[in-house]
Amino acid sequence: MSGTWDEHARDWDDNPDVRAYADKAFASLKEHTGPAIGANRYGRVLDFGCGTGLLSEKLAPVAGQIVAIDTSSAMIDVLKSKSIENVIALCVDIDAPSTVNLPALGQPFDLIVASSALAFVPDYRTIVGNLVPLLREGGLFVQWDWLKSGDGGFGLTSAEISAACKDAGLADTRVLEAFVMEGMGDAMTVLMGVGTR
Ligand SMILES: C[S@@+](CC[C@H](N)C(=O)[O-])C[C@H]1O[C@@H](n2cnc3c(N)ncnc32)[C@H](O)[C@@H]1O
Repeated sequence: MSGTWDEHARDWDDNPDVRAYADKAFASLKEHTGPAIGANRYGRVLDFGCGTGLLSEKLAPVAGQIVAIDTSSAMIDVLKSKSIENVIALCVDIDAPSTVNLPALGQPFDLIVASSALAFVPDYRTIVGNLVPLLREGGLFVQWDWLKSGDGGFGLTSAEISAACKDAGLADTRVLEAFVMEGMGDAMTVLMGVGTR
């Protein structure tokens, strides 16, 4: 489905930068949202743009069930090969009409995470609008994305994240500078957007 990302799947987990990103995202999730969820149990989780599941792997021991979705079949194949008991890995496009009826998406989620995924979708605001109704009332939405540098730069701005979350009906929205990635040339800031349905 996604040729470009498919090409990265086999070597994805060998990249220390993407592993470090997942480590820092998980640490920031615990720091900023753990108390709100309670006892550090994340219940039913949707990992949007899960890739090979680096974040799902960390969430699995502290979650009930994780549904991990991605449009790259090769990324999903790598995640499936990890055979994580409480992770359902699916190659689906959340925008496709048939996706709405998938049994795995039928029950509301306590938490939706999107780690370095939403800046890569063609229509960010539409996808956030499609994801938020999958949360239970009071459920948490959390995304991490590169802070956009300048006009036309890659990533998302704090204002873009804030507007998309508010448009999708999230409350208590916050955009934080979650962490900085070093060692990738320039230091790059990662924003964390958080909101409650
Ligand atoms: C930078 S990778 C991040 C993967 C993973 N979240 C991680 O942190 O290792 C971006 C991921 O977003 C996925 N992606 C891009 N567009 C997508 C879409 N429309 N729906 C679902 N996943 C998408 C890609 O296939 C890729 O696996």
